Amino acid sequence: MSNQTVKPAEGKLGIMVVGCGAVATTLMTGVLMARKGLAKPVGSMTQYDKIRVGRGAEKRYLAYGDIVPLASLDDIVFGTWDVYPQSAYQAAMYAQVLQEKDINPVRDELEQIVPMKAAFDKNYAKRLDGDNVKVNAAGKMPTRWEMVEALREDIRTFKQKNGCCRLVVIWAASTEIYVPVDLSVHGSLKDLEAAMKADDRQRVAPSMCYAYAALTEGVPFIMGAPNTTVDIPAMWELAERQRVPIAGKDFKTGQTLVKSGFAPIIGTRCLGLNGWFSTNILGNRDGLVLDEPDNFHTKEVSKLSTLETILKPEVQPDLYTDYFHKVRINYYPPRGDNKEGWDNIDIFGWMGYPMQIKINFLCRDSILAAPLALDLCLLTDLAARAGRYGTQRFLSFFLKNPMHDYTKGEEAVNNLYQQYTMLKNALREMGGYEADEEID
Ligand SMILES: NC(=O)c1ccc[n+]([C@@H]2O[C@H](COP(=O)([O-])OP(=O)(O)OC[C@H]3O[C@@H](n4cnc5c(N)ncnc54)[C@H](O)[C@@H]3O)[C@@H](O)[C@H]2O)c1
Repeated sequence: MSNQTVKPAEGKLGIMVVGCGAVATTLMTGVLMARKGLAKPVGSMTQYDKIRVGRGAEKRYLAYGDIVPLASLDDIVFGTWDVYPQSAYQAAMYAQVLQEKDINPVRDELEQIVPMKAAFDKNYAKRLDGDNVKVNAAGKMPTRWEMVEALREDIRTFKQKNGCCRLVVIWAASTEIYVPVDLSVHGSLKDLEAAMKADDRQRVAPSMCYAYAALTEGVPFIMGAPNTTVDIPAMWELAERQRVPIAGKDFKTGQTLVKSGFAPIIGTRCLGLNGWFSTNILGNRDGLVLDEPDNFHTKEVSKLSTLETILKPEVQPDLYTDYFHKVRINYYPPRGDNKEGWDNIDIFGWMGYPMQIKINFLCRDSILAAPLALDLCLLTDLAARAGRYGTQRFLSFFLKNPMHDYTKGEEAVNNLYQQYTMLKNALREMGGYEADEEID
């Protein structure tokens, strides 16, 4: 059964990545290698997962691409912006995520991907000092509104030059310093636009200029870092006015993936929780930026939000009242992109007797993030073709701190299995099948 309401994925899909660092170059290299048949896109749900459609005798397990029209990897064209001018090839070599042998077969294509000048404000990432940044006619940092205009121009030029039918903009740039939501500026589109025009540098992050530019050009925007960028009513308003999907925030790759999958074990088994301490060592440029307390705070807020919506004191006061939840990230250069995460979980059981669980995840940050970024791009493009707009809650599965309308008291869904149900139901619905699973 196919749904006539989803437009086909015809022509080229431009994926414009903000930031040409470890995640971006691992994504690009993997896609280019996969379409040459030289690597497998392992970890990508859009390329591997099969879900049930229909019930009883009608039941079948289909790949996403057999349920809905997804863009093919062959039709993807990459673009990027970065503070550093190095091509995606040089950036991939610098990132040291992938070995030379896995980069060289697509070297020529990666060399063609050269970052456009970044809309950048050093106050938002003090540890970065690249000079591939936009300046205005006076040679100074552009105002926020000038940034928007220059970015809109970049998006239009990229689309036209590359003959793209559709675009998606995804933020895989450094985590910015924490911008608390201030409803006097972020609460409505009119106020946000006024703040951009007044060059309010404290409350309008450069990432907001990218998002505003994309949405105004009718292009979906995905926030892969924990920045509050599109998680504000002003951007929801813009996305709805433009009828464009938005998704965010913060790729759910390692420790939080484990947490959102493991916490339900504790909850389902009705065990109690006294505390959950999560720490990491990480030595890539992301780790360097996150070593700055203001930048780490943005990540901390994002990482801390997971447990409270899964293990709820108001539902089980005997089990989950006052548990201690702490998250740390420590910059440790020798490990590079190979992040090591430790979780110490203090639980209690029958008659309150304490026990401990230790999880030690020796992961590779960008190896986990790349397939997730690909899935977010392909599924957001699908959502746009299905006529969906505004916050795409069905993509919560991929995100550490999923967007939800907090002004209306809506809660985020963080439980991995509930998120998976939301994802499957949305795919079924877009494919013309019944969305037949309950989130319980
Ligand atoms: N890898 C993961 O597991 C993971 C998980 C969740 C979130 N993230 C987030 O994804 C982002 C990218 O991670 P990474 O490891 O690739 O980092 P990275 O430091 O390797 O790359 C980020 C790039 O963004 C560039 N940049 C910074 N500000 C910019 C701006 N305003 N415009 C354009 N470019 C800009 C930097 O110069 C840098 O090259 C980070 O925010 C990180 O927190 C990563």
